[in-house]
Amino acid sequence: AQSLPPSISDTSAKAVYDSEHPYIPDQPGDIRGPCPGLNTLASHGYLPRNGVATPAQIITAVQEGFNMGWNLASFVTYATFIVDGNHLTNLMSIGANTTADDEPTPGLNIHFNVEGDASTTRGDFYFGNNYSFNETLFDQLEEAANRVGNGLITIESASLHRALRINDSITRNPTFWFGSPRFAGAYAETTFPLAFFVNNQTLDTALNLTLDVARDFYDKHRFPEGFVRRQGPFDVAEVGSMFAKIFPLINIPPGHNEGVGNYVVNPEDDGSVNLTAQLYPNPMSELEMAIKANLVTFYETLQNSTCEQYFPYGQS
Ligand code: HEM
Ligand code: MG
Repeated sequence: AQSLPPSISDTSAKAVYDSEHPYIPDQPGDIRGPCPGLNTLASHGYLPRNGVATPAQIITAVQEGFNMGWNLASFVTYATFIVDGNHLTNLMSIGANTTADDEPTPGLNIHFNVEGDASTTRGDFYFGNNYSFNETLFDQLEEAANRVGNGLITIESASLHRALRINDSITRNPTFWFGSPRFAGAYAETTFPLAFFVNNQTLDTALNLTLDVARDFYDKHRFPEGFVRRQGPFDVAEVGSMFAKIFPLINIPPGHNEGVGNYVVNPEDDGSVNLTAQLYPNPMSELEMAIKANLVTFYETLQNSTCEQYFPYGQS
């Protein structure tokens, strides 16, 4: 277990596609997965290029490369690490599981813990591949951009695509599940490219993203030439206000399918989750201690919230 790394000190806009961070596509054996943000950081060496990293490396890399705010970065990383990481080695794969004998197997490809349905450019687990770039889905993103974004990815076109993706899963995926935490994750991933991947936002203008840049990001995991990260961190408050903007355009509550075409709203889904007790029903000695320590670190990321610590996890 580790404590949280410090916030980066300089959060100004700056060129991050520099000579120390060349683009090298993943080589055989390197791991990429369902998050184009982390994939891109690995392909530019902000994360280990093999795609296996500690939580601290991830928290620092998303700040350095994209100016994700320290608090949001710490929260998202630890929320994910608790369920998808290896507590004994303190490592997490950004895609496929790398070990044979860990339980549960660590990695972001794991369906349901964090990875979920109706993704922007990745298919539903039910259809076979929940982590690779999917050309058909990108074409739909492009169609939405042409319909309501003048050929750009905008808040309107990204929201339209999100709504269409949800409806597609409702119509075709009998196992479609869109409750917490996937619900919030799906909205967040809709805002992220607009928040982080707009080249040179020093003017902080309209938050539009060209399709060429988007394709390089989603498919090739590459920064645009001369990429300048956003000015100032995108943190918890910013994600909240972006969420408030897109939710009314989409307006689909948390729920799940009970048979294709039958979307049932989850009656008491308030956004809280507790998967860990189910993932590790009976952790022993070293593993138990590591999980407890990581839960304490995770709780530190919630300092400004009203969440209460739920014992006995931290006590034996
Ligand atoms: C998707 C994890 C940071 C952009 C995902 C998914 C995971 C994930 C597990 C898959 C969810 C799904 O669609 O089923 C993380 C973690 C981060 C992080 C642990 C650490 C802070 C970022 C950053 C960006 C980003 C900094 C932006 C540059 C995206 C996008 C998607 C996504 C756009 C949707 C991909 C698609 O379906 O096309 N992330 N992420 N993420 N993430 Fe991240
Ligand atoms: Mg997914």
